Amino acid sequence: MKPIRIAIDGPASSGKSTVAKIIAKDLGYTYLDTGAMYRSATYLALKNHLTESDVAAILEQMAAHPISFGRATDGSQTVFLGDEDVTLAIRQNDVTNNVSWVSALPEIREELVKQQRRIARDGAIIMDGRDIGTVVLPDAELKIFLVASVDERAERRFKENQEKGISTNLEILKKEIAERDYKDSHRKVSPLKAADDAITFDTTGVDIDGVVSFISEKAKKIIDMD
Ligand code: DC
Repeated sequence: MKPIRIAIDGPASSGKSTVAKIIAKDLGYTYLDTGAMYRSATYLALKNHLTESDVAAILEQMAAHPISFGRATDGSQTVFLGDEDVTLAIRQNDVTNNVSWVSALPEIREELVKQQRRIARDGAIIMDGRDIGTVVLPDAELKIFLVASVDERAERRFKENQEKGISTNLEILKKEIAERDYKDSHRKVSPLKAADDAITFDTTGVDIDGVVSFISEKAKKIIDMD
């Protein structure tokens, strides 16, 4: 059995993190939510009233408040900036609506990609994001690109937010998701796109179990090859 690296990319709410977490648990792999890292950088920028022209100051804030992951008593993943628990704060609307400009800054991406590669160094990892298969781990053993219709993704996020106690409006969510798709796929640095060797899977109308077994089967085949 060889420890492999699994890259899962795709647009917002395409189901990446839900399935990645399940597969990581199943394989005993580390799960890395790279979106949480861009959200954390955005949280720091907003908290300190920084803008696109303050890249150096955002980087300084990131160095002073390193990102780390922990585990809550219910087993869910928690996100820390220094010793501040930002798990919930980074999911709030102000962060979600500002993460596109922060994640379009090349210097911020460079720093976070460096951290992501360090975490992936030993393999046995499943990472989700937008550029994992294309930039972060171009030689990952398995690359999956998940897509789903805007309507379905908005409904998924709506439910997710409800469960977290975050109030949202479905029509506004659809608009925001479509806008974020556009910005994520049209930015100059590391735009959202499938790697040439990625397997694209449309999850519209497919339940979580269906997506998990599709990816798990492919992963287990590669793991068992050795
Ligand atoms: O996966 P998410 O919705 O939590 O990600 C939040 C934002 O972070 C997303 O709109 C784009 C950005 N992102 C990125 O640019 N590259 C990644 N690898 C992951 C996320």
